[in-house]
Amino acid sequence: MLFTTPAFLKATCMCIIAALGHVETKAIMKDVNETEMFYYEIRPELFNWTNGADTKFVFTPSLQNYPDLLPWIHYKFNSKNRHGYLYGTPPANLLERQILLDIIGLNKKTYQVETQIIQLNIFEKSEYATNEVRFKINNLNVEDMFHEERIPYLLDIFRQNLWLGSKQDLYVTFLASASDLGQRLPLDPNDTEGVVVNLGSSSNFSTILYDLEKEISPLQKMNKCPKDFKRTSVERYFRANGFNLDWCSFKLVELTILNHNHTINVQDKKSKTNYAEENVWELVESLQYSQSMYTDTTKFNITLLIFIMFVVGLILSIGIFRWYKKKVIFF
Ligand SMILES: *[C@@H]1O[C@H](CO)[C@@H](O)[C@H](O)[C@H]1NC(C)=O
Ligand SMILES: *[C@@H]1O[C@H](CO)[C@@H](O)[C@H](O)[C@H]1NC(C)=O
Ligand SMILES: *[C@@H]1O[C@H](CO)[C@@H](O)[C@H](O)[C@H]1NC(C)=O
Ligand SMILES: *[C@@H]1O[C@H](CO)[C@@H](O)[C@H](O)[C@H]1NC(C)=O
Ligand SMILES: *[C@@H]1O[C@H](CO)[C@@H](O)[C@H](O)[C@H]1NC(C)=O
Repeated sequence: MLFTTPAFLKATCMCIIAALGHVETKAIMKDVNETEMFYYEIRPELFNWTNGADTKFVFTPSLQNYPDLLPWIHYKFNSKNRHGYLYGTPPANLLERQILLDIIGLNKKTYQVETQIIQLNIFEKSEYATNEVRFKINNLNVEDMFHEERIPYLLDIFRQNLWLGSKQDLYVTFLASASDLGQRLPLDPNDTEGVVVNLGSSSNFSTILYDLEKEISPLQKMNKCPKDFKRTSVERYFRANGFNLDWCSFKLVELTILNHNHTINVQDKKSKTNYAEENVWELVESLQYSQSMYTDTTKFNITLLIFIMFVVGLILSIGIFRWYKKKVIFF
């Protein structure tokens, strides 16, 4: 009973809110550019709740009238500051340029349920990135990247020191948790999962970046990234801002020349390269991952087999029982 009452209340509240929602709730506008990573911070204040240390919140975002988000929108909750984060990169040439998201907030102290609507307005980009720097940051989780000035600091390292030509248009094209891309979760839950970042610009790579690529090229030949290969000639820029880079994953990638007539092909190509690279992060870990998937399916198959044997056995025994009964009657 203790469990069913709040659940019932929650369901009732949600029905009432759904009924009233269309009249009462005004959508919050968020402008984003296609191919540019965006994030939206969901704070308890969004629902007029105060963020006290003794209060727990659950935010459930979804595409309006659908149970899930779109494949390119992700959600993470930061249990440290109790904010939720929506993030992702809108693909180029989307047909639907206005996207409504419902965010259902649950205050676990009061069992209050509220809904907020966020409207994403996706703007066309006149010029896409043609070159990308891709790397992994070891010492952060994806939600840490949304902390205050972290992304601007990261962009500034490139704009001011490593890739001066990108000053005009450098932007984040992709951001993901390394474990969402198949890397094994850290054994200690307090350890960071790592975050994969792609930065794009339409300017040519600088000689500094090409030199850096040469400097770390010995790493490409190794099977496993040596943990002690940390000091590159540009290390100080990253360390000064609290970024610990995984130099084995650092890559310069030239994207094919984009124009609006060919963006669909290019998107395909881009997402394919992303997938191809996903498995390269740490092969050993992904093998372990697929193994656990395998045991899961094996377990399922065994359960299914036992079930089928049980049903067949049941049918057989009914048949034998009837046949036996008939025999008894006739003889
Ligand atoms: C979108 O791009 C334009 C320039 O093309 C820029 O001025 C604007 O700030 C960008 N919007 C966002 C939300 O980043
Ligand atoms: C929060 O309060 C403001 C002003 O009091 C109001 O306009 C807004 O609709 C409220 N939001 C929610 C989700 O109740
Ligand atoms: C994780 O950190 C918390 C406090 O920050 C600590 O209480 C806990 O023991 C740590 N867990 C592990 C597995 O180290
Ligand atoms: C960028 O590189 C291409 C060749 O790779 C060259 O043709 C072009 O002039 C370069 N652009 C600039 C601005 O240097
Ligand atoms: C794109 O296609 C339009 C017609 O569909 C054409 O007028 C334009 O020149 C093309 N642009 C490029 C860069 O190929």
